[in-house]
Amino acid sequence: MENIKSYVQQHKDRFINELIELLKIPSVSADTAYCQDVIDTAEAVKVSLEKAGCDHVEICETAGYPIVYGEKIIDPNLPTVLVYGHYDVQPADPIELWTSPPFEPVIKKTDIHPEGAIFARGACDDKGQMYMHVKAFEYMIQSNTLPCNVKFMIEGEEEVGSVNLKTFVENNVEKLKNDVILISDTGMISNQQPSITTGLRGLSYVEVEVTGPNRDLHSGLYGGAVANPINILAKMIASLHDENNHITIPGFYDNVEELSLEERAEMAKAPFNLDNYKKALDLKDVYGESGYVTNERNSIRPTLDVNGIWGGYTGEGAKTVIASQAFAKISMRLVPNQEWENITELFTKHFMSLAPAGVTVKVKPHHGGQGYVTPIDSIGYKAANMAYTETFGVPAIPVRSGGSIPIVALFEKELKSKTILMGFGLDSDAIHSPNEHFGIFNYLKGIETIPLFYKYFVELSK
Ligand code: BES
Ligand code: MN
Ligand code: MN
Repeated sequence: MENIKSYVQQHKDRFINELIELLKIPSVSADTAYCQDVIDTAEAVKVSLEKAGCDHVEICETAGYPIVYGEKIIDPNLPTVLVYGHYDVQPADPIELWTSPPFEPVIKKTDIHPEGAIFARGACDDKGQMYMHVKAFEYMIQSNTLPCNVKFMIEGEEEVGSVNLKTFVENNVEKLKNDVILISDTGMISNQQPSITTGLRGLSYVEVEVTGPNRDLHSGLYGGAVANPINILAKMIASLHDENNHITIPGFYDNVEELSLEERAEMAKAPFNLDNYKKALDLKDVYGESGYVTNERNSIRPTLDVNGIWGGYTGEGAKTVIASQAFAKISMRLVPNQEWENITELFTKHFMSLAPAGVTVKVKPHHGGQGYVTPIDSIGYKAANMAYTETFGVPAIPVRSGGSIPIVALFEKELKSKTILMGFGLDSDAIHSPNEHFGIFNYLKGIETIPLFYKYFVELSK
């Protein structure tokens, strides 16, 4: 029986080409123009699971995009790993900033990826990382080394809040029963230093609308005499942070989990270089909440950010106008114990109270989700650490991430099992940005590491 390393070496070109085919389908869940492509991608994922060796694969329809479910049950008495991933991707815009078209994948070398990286929307988030699991499974089937049962649940709405997956999970608790959930949809510190994500932030996402006069007005005739919705919106948004960059919404921090100094000292041991961080982003300095360092600001602390703001005239030249309306999309990243529905309510109440009499304000809640933390003494964490240690030569470091996968908290609530976040992406892979890519090294290393997780998880479960 050949081992995983040589299997990967032997089949790597095919592994890369199969992923490239998947990346060519523009499965943008946020934009209905790509509706058929999203559906086609579900079908392609289904076929890949069948070919890899699942006994039973189905497309589960939902009120939105389908969920692909596949399984291989070898013995009901053995543990079951549930693999979750998503086949939908973020919109590619701004398209003009891509150095090659987002849905025509190409391999290019970068400083961080001297062996080359696949450039395409979804390369890292999450098609590439999801597909590592399909290929690792293929290996275990081909080499007859699958040590337990496996279930795959690959959804198509992660990038738009997993609203229908929630219902699917609630209605299929028995079908999805498992001993551990395994996800590769996060990152690691570097190609030399693996890490395991032990925390995800929650999210509350809202859209706000400020309305002033009933029509756009001449800014000379009316300027100074009526409230300008854009000016007012800017002022309201600015007031949401104080001079220390604390969020000013009353009650916002009430349930925030404060880490002990020991825990913060432990976090500070993870390798991090502030100069390189600034250099990578072309920044003179970082910015954030006083009293916390960068790696705390972006993981254990909650935030509030405007994601988009619009209104008035933005075309060529100058138009003298006071717009009737102004809009913004605002997200709040939350930490464990903050309830996202509660935060949405606190935001709404406070934001409405900021409005002067000359405007009306509406707040429309979008999606949200709870944060997540997982202990490092579970069997799953230990198995993951053993797997990384074997393939990278050094143990993994536990790291809390700033990103969100809202469904993870729901998994724990409904399915009563822990999630292990074995990510292989790098922060520099530009997920959600132009020129997203995924290192060939990372892709193949993932395929190599995953079967070891299964092996150690089953050994430790005995
Ligand atoms: N895979 C990301 C989340 C992520 C990336 C977590 C890197 C940790 C490290 C996921 O696809 C994502 O983008 N999630 C969204 C939330 C969702 C509700 C749109 C996010 O974090 O903005
Ligand atoms: Mn993702
Ligand atoms: Mn994403």
